[in-house]
Amino acid sequence: MLVIGSGLAGLMTAYHLRGRGSIIVASKRAIEESNTHYAQGGIACVMDPDDSFEAHERDTLSTGCGLCDESVVRTIIRAGPECVRELEALGISFERRRGRSREYDLGQEGGHSRRRVLHAGDVTGRQLIRVLARRVAEAPSVTMLPDWMAIDLVTTSWLRRPGPNRCIGAYFIERATGDIHAIRARHTVLATGGAGKVYLYTSNPDTATGDGIAMGWRCGLPIRNMEFVQFHPTCLYHPEAKSFLISETVRGEGARLINAAGESFMERYDSRGALAPRDIVARAIDQEMKRRGDPCVYLDITHRGEDFLKTRFPTIYATCLKYGFDMARQPIPVVPAAHYFVGGIMASVDGRTEIEGLYAVGETASTGLHGANRLASNSLLEALVCSRLCARTISEAGRPRVEDVEIPPWEIGAAVPSDEAVVVEHNWNEVRTVMWDYVGIVRTIKRLERAARRIRNLRHEIRQYYLSYLVTPDVLELRNIAAVADLVIRSAFARRESRGLHFTLNFPEMAMDAPPRDTIIRDPPGGPIAEG
Ligand code: FAD
Ligand code: SIN
Repeated sequence: MLVIGSGLAGLMTAYHLRGRGSIIVASKRAIEESNTHYAQGGIACVMDPDDSFEAHERDTLSTGCGLCDESVVRTIIRAGPECVRELEALGISFERRRGRSREYDLGQEGGHSRRRVLHAGDVTGRQLIRVLARRVAEAPSVTMLPDWMAIDLVTTSWLRRPGPNRCIGAYFIERATGDIHAIRARHTVLATGGAGKVYLYTSNPDTATGDGIAMGWRCGLPIRNMEFVQFHPTCLYHPEAKSFLISETVRGEGARLINAAGESFMERYDSRGALAPRDIVARAIDQEMKRRGDPCVYLDITHRGEDFLKTRFPTIYATCLKYGFDMARQPIPVVPAAHYFVGGIMASVDGRTEIEGLYAVGETASTGLHGANRLASNSLLEALVCSRLCARTISEAGRPRVEDVEIPPWEIGAAVPSDEAVVVEHNWNEVRTVMWDYVGIVRTIKRLERAARRIRNLRHEIRQYYLSYLVTPDVLELRNIAAVADLVIRSAFARRESRGLHFTLNFPEMAMDAPPRDTIIRDPPGGPIAEG
């Protein structure tokens, strides 16, 4: 079994599969590096006796603006508590209320009708990854391959084998040597995360280049709802902070959003103020910045005092201080940045895709949980539950024969080492700038057309480069962000309304005259050396 990616989705899938045959976990950077590692707020889950599954489901459905798959919402939310207890049994501890060791200290985030977010300080993700990576590595049946980047999947249809299309593994590039290897597997799980790097400003680390989505799309899989890109309203505005996230739980603890004139403005945009769902807050900030011509807005939590802030948000407090902002004494400058990809490879709640033997879990998948907008802290919950269900499905699927299908060695054709790597750097910046400028929080048909033209040209150039030179991780990531950019633009074009995370000035209202629909893009399969 092959698991690609070592965030929460990949590690949990591998953990649940341990003891059921040999498992390879391949990850393109260090095992610890992933979006999961940076998660701050926590895991939304019904753990408080005063909370209810129905309330969490209502909040999820309402935030999702009519596009959630209700049965998926029920399955994931109701499996949450059992999965959380499993995490605790593995050694992960969530904060309890002071002096009340039996009660969780639950965080509050936008769109939730009550406090519901389990957290480990403000470094929930770091704790998850630290414990899980160790647990998975301890299992004798697991081999970890850090710095192995998947290039493309290998399917029987690409090999022109008769019968139903089946995934039989993937090609990888080993970062240290540049060598390319094929790994054959009965079951391949894509747990490659999101694609924040498609945008110039993002809360995501460098690993988030949408590789799984691009690989799935090149195999001909349907890709759903890519227009729904979530922008987190509050990332630190500082040239060196790399859009460091200021968790929504800071607003949950009473932080106000104010403009440069010191006015609290969110109340003008939504009655829920700073705790409205993220799409509304991000758009309000964008509008406020444009209206006043300001480069940022401010988050003010000075009234909670130094002791509280240092205890509840030690990492955020220390990071802000490092960049010269003492959040106990001054409002901190913030801006929105690309944060989460709601869209992805169409997959069932247990990760099954249209291709036999190929699964997608976590942020790379689109299960229908989030609809048109993700409720805060529902993604760790989704990764947790879906990886468990995926492992169960794989365990029950048995051991299909793949040994008799030869994976051909990687073909380099006429490719030579590149002597103009600067092209990669240039195109990388251009794709991300085009997406930020024209396919961001507020869209128009004209901006999308502009973006489409530029991305088309860039993809043509990238394809030429890909075919001419020996592949490197950088060029592979560039190829993937450009493919994902194209999917976002095409999906945004297809949605002739504003809904959830997709807002266009040409159709500013939600279309009420037709049933809500998903945007699905399905292109003919390409294969490892085809369409860039
Ligand atoms: P990831 O955790 O991103 O893991 C993907 C893995 O795949 C990585 O190891 C990566 O290196 C690897 N990979 C990628 N491409 C390849 C390839 N080609 N070959 C091999 N390996 C590859 N969600 C919440 O619910 N609560 C929160 O509090 C929260 N806070 C967040 C804070 C930040 C700053 C960010 C960026 C996100 C946050 N999110 C939060 C979102 C959440 O963290 C992610 O949606 C979730 O962690 C995704 O998990 P994943 O396992 O699917 O992907
Ligand atoms: C945050 O802590 O604000 C991030 C939560 C999330 O993305 O779900």
